[in-house]
Amino acid sequence: MSAAPPIHLVEVGPRDGLQNEPANVPTDIKVAFVDALSASGLTEIEVSSFVSPKWVPQLADAEEVFHRIRRMPGVTYMALVPNEQGLERAQAARVDKVAVFTAASETFSRKNTNASIAETLERFKPVVARAGVPVRGYISTAFHCPFEGPIAPEQVLLVAEALLVLGCTELSIGDTIGRATRAQTLRLFERLLAVCPADRLAAHFHDTFGQAVDNALAAESLGVRIFDASAGGIGGCPYAPGAPGNIATEALVAAFPGRTGAYPGKLAAAGELIRRYIAAT
Ligand code: HMG
Ligand code: MG
Repeated sequence: MSAAPPIHLVEVGPRDGLQNEPANVPTDIKVAFVDALSASGLTEIEVSSFVSPKWVPQLADAEEVFHRIRRMPGVTYMALVPNEQGLERAQAARVDKVAVFTAASETFSRKNTNASIAETLERFKPVVARAGVPVRGYISTAFHCPFEGPIAPEQVLLVAEALLVLGCTELSIGDTIGRATRAQTLRLFERLLAVCPADRLAAHFHDTFGQAVDNALAAESLGVRIFDASAGGIGGCPYAPGAPGNIATEALVAAFPGRTGAYPGKLAAAGELIRRYIAAT
């Protein structure tokens, strides 16, 4: 019997987790968190975002965090960028990979980026063209929008194809408010896998209703191998009411035993470090 294929985890806690914290987490703690994650066997970490500090003040120290982390060979350090201004900042900080982000819902796109979906795609053209590093494209509200309700798979497919045409090297499909069911996960990822190879397709589940692990297992059964997660299950989007924590990295490591390359003890220590800080503030 052949071994089950490896699962690639993308740790998004330092970005998706900390962007939603009401307390301003000091740069020292962020750096310690990323360094602990780098030591935990994970090979990709979304460190911060170069968005407008007026929109997300929690991550206004992105440059300093990138400057101070200890980069581990073999680990990819990624950051979110919304536009060319963000790309320039990310390049100066020597990121290994950037992530642009749009949505399958028009209302959410406007609330999150002050732009329609079409306008976000226009903004991404020069970003993808000039990035010089791999570019991930996030699609938020791929199942359910906090403002518009259920989202049809066709809407997600249109955005996915547009991002691939632009030149995104990877798509990450977001269940932003954690409402997807197993059946909806199977229905959407089956369609996505017909237009995007599995090695370029990530699943990004939030865990509002405790369904995220089931949904990850469902996506994996179709061939999805890349999963976003956040140590300690921290996270959420400040512009999506009802978006709590991401699926916990620890939960995915347990769900895919021996397949993620993460050291559970070291990962637990990283999750503990950030959870303890948040609980104390
Ligand atoms: P805007 O206000 O329309 O932008 O925001 P603007 O171009 O008019 O600029 C306004 C001001 O922001 C200007 O400064 C710009 O210089 C500045 P001023 O002249 O007023 O002093 N600015 C910037 N500063 C630094 N870096 C930049 C930057 N861009 C503009 N990159 C914008 C448009 C997209 C910038 C804004 O809406 C924004 O930053 N939004 C980010 C919101 C965000 O980060 N949301 C959370 C991440 S997405 C998410 O969590 C979902 C995900 O996890 C997947 C899922 O779960 O679904 C990925
Ligand atoms: Mg998210």
